[in-house]
Amino acid sequence: MSSLEELVERRAGLHGAAIDTLQAIVSDWQILADLSFSDLLMFARDPADGELTVVAQMRPYTAQTIYQEDLVGTVYTADEKPSVTRAFADGAIVRDGDPDWSTGVPVREEAVPVPFDDEVIAVVTREANLSMVRAPSQLELTYLQAANELSQMLAEGDFPFPGEDPERELAPRVGDGMMRLDPAGVVAYASPNAISAYRRLGVVDNIVGRNIGDFDLDDIAVREALADGEPLDSEVEARGAVVLRRLLPLTRAHHVLGALMLVREVTELRRHERLLLYKDATIREIHHRVKNNLQTVASLLRLQARRLGSDEARQALNESVRRISSIALVHETLSQDHRQRVSFDKVGQRLLDMLATGIVDPEDAVTMRLEGTAGELPAEVATPLALVLSELLQNAVEHAFAGRGGEAVVTLERRVASLHLAVVDDGVGVPDGWTLEQNANLGLRIASTLVESELGGTLSVEPGEDGRGTRCEVLLPLPR
Ligand SMILES: Nc1ncnc2c1ncn2[C@@H]1O[C@H](COP(=O)(O)OP(=O)(O)OP(=O)(O)O)[C@@H](O)[C@H]1O
Ligand SMILES: [Mg+2]
Repeated sequence: MSSLEELVERRAGLHGAAIDTLQAIVSDWQILADLSFSDLLMFARDPADGELTVVAQMRPYTAQTIYQEDLVGTVYTADEKPSVTRAFADGAIVRDGDPDWSTGVPVREEAVPVPFDDEVIAVVTREANLSMVRAPSQLELTYLQAANELSQMLAEGDFPFPGEDPERELAPRVGDGMMRLDPAGVVAYASPNAISAYRRLGVVDNIVGRNIGDFDLDDIAVREALADGEPLDSEVEARGAVVLRRLLPLTRAHHVLGALMLVREVTELRRHERLLLYKDATIREIHHRVKNNLQTVASLLRLQARRLGSDEARQALNESVRRISSIALVHETLSQDHRQRVSFDKVGQRLLDMLATGIVDPEDAVTMRLEGTAGELPAEVATPLALVLSELLQNAVEHAFAGRGGEAVVTLERRVASLHLAVVDDGVGVPDGWTLEQNANLGLRIASTLVESELGGTLSVEPGEDGRGTRCEVLLPLPR
């Protein structure tokens, strides 16, 4: 549960749709803070004793904050915050005449009631630092006028707009570029950033004083939104530039007073996104081709093995086929997934299935099973590890059971910074006096080289518990 939800429920006894209303305000009120050059606080009131709790706080991007500290959760008595208490009681905006000096700087507070079902369920205060006020520029005057209109809309339940959900992180902010439109759509003011954004789209003439419907690329949608008093979020692209626009109609009693148009140029951002998608697809395609090439090599070797006279040579080629197929498996997984990480559980299971059908004699009652989980591994770890697992399983099938049948169990265990892999069989075990250093043939030499040199881990091959069977263990360090 979010802290807002928890606080208003506990301190003001609000539920359901009332909380949703407050949450909608909090997800959209940055614009009010920025236009007001003010900190915003949202208060909930205890119906029993009138105590006021700060349930949400927002700082402006356009001005210095008054409150360095986080006030969420702070409780005041009704008398400590007279204008908030009054806004709760009257259901109307309360503007205080005298600045409050309690924070050390002069603060003018305006308390805006939030209505819901004919009741005031919260009060939002706009707290402006008066010591920062200079002779206001046209930009500041335009911002403040819009802020007052938005406050009024908030007090009448018309802000935020219902059902609006633009791409939040990208949504244009006040500082990105802002225009003020009159009810007919004529630009009364445009910030320098807004003018630049339209320039990139090819609108070179002065836009102030012109009707947005005459130069905006999506003019019909803008005109309609303005006429209906509906918000509009859209993206336009022209001349290689991409601009996001957010139209916010300012209304009073369903009468359109004008609108704010926030604009943000996102050309570079979109270009990067496209580039990433493109690279992603390319990498997948490369893995797909590598897999195909490996499979071709494996088929060539298989063909050649069939034509060989000597059993030993044929077996050697068939083993190469198996090794190459194990590498192909990892590339196949990578070509299906867009990330450069592989689910090693999936690869391990595929490997087991492949070996079970490829090298286990159907006459022998040899079974293989996978336990635990390795999670996702980077491709450069997964490929060698798949080869190692393939060698260890091959050995169990080939040497452990001597035609009697038995079981080989693979256990995977992911720890914080390491991976543990074990292949345990219940077969005949390695011969007496056998050591990895002295008795390894090609298979285990490949395995230990990969584990130690390529993966920086350790490999051990030892008799199983109670001297039965064989236990092969791999321990790999993993970057966190
Ligand atoms: N699970 C096992 N059970 C019993 N003996 C084993 C087991 N694993 C390995 N060995 C012994 O270790 C030897 C070396 O294994 P290694 O994989 O290096 O070579 P290989 O299997 O003989 O040949 P290849 O190069 O084809 O793998 C095997 O010949 C076998 O005697
Ligand atoms: Mg072997």
